[in-house]
Amino acid sequence: MDQVLNIINVNKKFDGTIALDDFSLEIPRDSITGIIGPNGAGKTTLFNAITGFLPLDSGEIIYNGKNLSRMPSYKIARTGIVRTFQQLRLITRMTVQDNILLSFQNQAGENLKNIFLFPGRVKNQEEKNQEKTNELLSFMGIEEKASDLVEGLSYGQQKMISLACCLASGADLLLLDEPVAGINPELIEKILRVIKKLQKAGKTFVLIEHNIEAVMQVCDRVIFMNEGKKLAEGDPESVRHDPAVIEAYLE
Ligand SMILES: Nc1ncnc2c1ncn2[C@@H]1O[C@H](COP(=O)(O)OP(=O)(O)OP(=O)(O)O)[C@@H](O)[C@H]1O
Ligand SMILES: [Mg+2]
Repeated sequence: MDQVLNIINVNKKFDGTIALDDFSLEIPRDSITGIIGPNGAGKTTLFNAITGFLPLDSGEIIYNGKNLSRMPSYKIARTGIVRTFQQLRLITRMTVQDNILLSFQNQAGENLKNIFLFPGRVKNQEEKNQEKTNELLSFMGIEEKASDLVEGLSYGQQKMISLACCLASGADLLLLDEPVAGINPELIEKILRVIKKLQKAGKTFVLIEHNIEAVMQVCDRVIFMNEGKKLAEGDPESVRHDPAVIEAYLE
């Protein structure tokens, strides 16, 4: 199968803590991979390593044939990888649509030359982005929230918005850190449906999640991590019944 991301023997240590221990993983294109594991297993560190938020001690990360291992995070973002954070990073005093508009990459208006020499181009780009924002909001079924301030939304709705911001960036590989943790079952269903729909539209997902039911429902493949190591990997049912997984969750 076509692999979009190859993580090869990655190591990351913090003082005495080994957060990633010779960790390897391949992510097939158009798949949804779930990463489960107890607190402190190294799951978020893995996302930090992929996105260049943390330098690797050793190992390689290859995305679509490009070596990301020593690339700064802003360049990695331009290659088409985007992530959400456990602590959402939205501008809560701004509206939903303005948060999304800020997430578009390569905005013509950011370039001073464009503002002075090609104002038409800037306007055109802004109109296109506004149109895309409207499409994105209706794709996710939250168009009625467009003009609401983010601070007035529930936590679950804010998670939807952070996913919409990821999509606005145009990325093909989305790394979601606990996309459904702490939200109500109805909204969980909605988010999972959106993720499935996006997979069909050609996006690849890796999601970290403690909600095992959600993982079972949406993922093609599940990885179980503990102490920086991959201890089990396979289809959701087989990983759920893996003795190492059962032991870790019964502890
Ligand atoms: N920036 C950092 N500095 C020092 N130690 C860190 C740092 N980031 C993570 N760690 C440590 O590395 C280990 C793995 O942390 P990580 O955040 O990756 O776990 P996690 O699997 O995401 O856990 P959780 O499910 O609680 O979010 C933990 O022992 C954590 O304390
Ligand atoms: Mg984490």
